[in-house]
Amino acid sequence: KPWEHAKAGEGSAADPLATRFVASLDYDRRLYKHDIRGSLAHARMLRHVDLISDDELKQIEQGLTDIEREITEQGDAWPGWDESLEDVHMCVEAALIAKVGDAGRKLHTGRSRNDQIALDLLLWVEEAADALTAKFNTLNSAFVTLAERDGRFVMPSYTHLQRAQPIVVGGELLAWASAFERCNRRLRALVNINRRNPLGSGAIAGSSLPLDREHTAAALNVGPPSDNSLDATASRDAAIDLAYALTMASNTLSRWAEQWILYCTTEFGFVTLDGRYTTGSSMMPQKQNPDMLELLRGRSGGITGQLVALLTMTKGITIGYNRDLQEDKRYLFAAYDSCCDCLDIAAGIVATAKFNEKAIAAGLNRGYLDATSLADYLVTKGVPFRTAHQVVGKLVQTCEAQGLGQLAKLSLEQFNDACGERTVVDQDVYQWLGAANVVKRYRSSGNGGLSGFEQQLKQWKQRLGQD
Ligand code: ARG
Repeated sequence: KPWEHAKAGEGSAADPLATRFVASLDYDRRLYKHDIRGSLAHARMLRHVDLISDDELKQIEQGLTDIEREITEQGDAWPGWDESLEDVHMCVEAALIAKVGDAGRKLHTGRSRNDQIALDLLLWVEEAADALTAKFNTLNSAFVTLAERDGRFVMPSYTHLQRAQPIVVGGELLAWASAFERCNRRLRALVNINRRNPLGSGAIAGSSLPLDREHTAAALNVGPPSDNSLDATASRDAAIDLAYALTMASNTLSRWAEQWILYCTTEFGFVTLDGRYTTGSSMMPQKQNPDMLELLRGRSGGITGQLVALLTMTKGITIGYNRDLQEDKRYLFAAYDSCCDCLDIAAGIVATAKFNEKAIAAGLNRGYLDATSLADYLVTKGVPFRTAHQVVGKLVQTCEAQGLGQLAKLSLEQFNDACGERTVVDQDVYQWLGAANVVKRYRSSGNGGLSGFEQQLKQWKQRLGQD
């Protein structure tokens, strides 16, 4: 074969386990398009600085274009995949040499697989970030659509998972959308930070040939040339940053899943999932289990694990390429694939879910959700907040002792007695009590009640281009 030069060393050629052990083809072949894009930019730069001729560039361009088409058509069946060549870079280069001979042998001029893979990975990370942004947008559209329909139902909010203050369903739904939008911004930030062109860094020390790093940087649109050839070939920050972004996304999905798993219980009964996202039991005929939500929660453990694998794997990497780095893609791709599935499933679950207004309303008078509102009312009558807090605390105790269960069942006399000498409470106090009244009273921007919800909904529809 004309690419015999590219084969792994004697030892691994003789030992099939060593050949398999050193190879990354299994998982890095998915980089073939990025690899070819980088090679085309590199070859055009070699022409630009006169290291290859017009004719050689043409042959390289034709060869690489044909190879890309062949791989796209044939996938894993492409005959150029050869594990003894170790990785996607060698397989593509070997196929090029087989096609165009000496012109192909010039492609690797001034280049190493070390700067080559750093570039491929960066191109892949940027593409992955764009794909994830589309998925976050789909998920958030589903939250917004559900919020438009069910968002004005009044519901309890919880701190410490204990009843806190009344909100509207949309206030909580858009809370998740806000969290996923932050995941989205995290992607933009990491792409921005890592935008540097590693090509021209060679194996570690750069090159004595007149390479033009600005030329490939501009052609690939990956930011300016990296500052330092050692750092550029030995660091995997882009992969780790993306793995962290994936971890935060799956972590947020897991929190949301946990919340809705609770809401699907008979005890809560707040949410009903579409049948396609629940499963039955092999023994208990009545069951409709929220398995997809449970798996979202479970898979976040795996994605966190991939991040930890990447961090652990790189912490002993000296400043120069070490082969450990080849493993980065194994973990990063697994985390990405898993997170993509999770985001897609989540969007489907949200798009088909229903909030049960009646079931939620049935419990709204329990737990003194309006206690804070009553304290705010007293503040508007001139009572210092700390005093108001004490007074309401006492009134809650009175309700409990007398079996009233709700602050709205207290008389004006009882309110005023609790406040001491001065009469501060009027009939208007009842406008501040009861969950349905309270959700209309919040005024601070971004609040979880009606005004906050309508304001956020408007912003979301603008952002998603839905109005
Ligand atoms: N496939 C390798 C990786 O993914 C690149 C190969 C670099 N190999 C080397 N012996 N320097 O990191």
